[in-house]
Amino acid sequence: MKFFIDTANLDQIREAQDLGVLDGVTTNPSLMAKEGISGKENVIKHYKAICDIVDGDVSAEVIATDYEGMIREGEELAALDSKIVVKIPMIKDGVKALKYFSSKGIKTNCTLVFSAGQALLAAKAGATYVSPFIGRLDDISFDGLELIEQIRLIYDNYQYDTQILAASVRHSMHILKCAEIGSDVMTGPLSAILALLKHPLTDSGLATFLADHAKANSGK
Ligand code: E4P
Repeated sequence: MKFFIDTANLDQIREAQDLGVLDGVTTNPSLMAKEGISGKENVIKHYKAICDIVDGDVSAEVIATDYEGMIREGEELAALDSKIVVKIPMIKDGVKALKYFSSKGIKTNCTLVFSAGQALLAAKAGATYVSPFIGRLDDISFDGLELIEQIRLIYDNYQYDTQILAASVRHSMHILKCAEIGSDVMTGPLSAILALLKHPLTDSGLATFLADHAKANSGK
């Protein structure tokens, strides 16, 4: 399963990249705003800075919600770097835009997906990635992971190429369950990725190994 980090924070992207397990980055307008990035020039500069850090795909979301606007914005974003994936919302004009970009060979990420029907449409329109938001579904007492299972089944039934990008991942259990289900990608915060490496028996075991080594080597 590919690991994407869901942030526009350059330090966190660098930290994940340095760990050696990062396959890409997803951003959204809220994450960009959180970093204080505003104005077209700064937004473009920031996407370029992210692309300079990571080896993999970088999702950049369009702001327009009409077909022509999404095409214009998406083409500008895609021209910035070959790593850019144009992130398109799951709305009617968005589906048309997915189809357009797919016919042009431009990578897309269909975002704000909350149902299997939406995921099916995104695949039929040729999306490179589909982003079901599991955490936000959990927030309203729907099982987000169940949606990943449903989409996996549908995509496997028809061998759709669209990759399932489990989004709105909140913690390490989400990551593990997505891996069990067979999600192609997950995108989550750095904290959820780092939580995977923690185990109290690892910490206490290492402390014992080091203490035993120190004892055996004391006075030598
Ligand atoms: C997806 O690409 C979104 O950026 C994201 O995962 C949203 O997550 P949130 O629900 O934690 O805001």
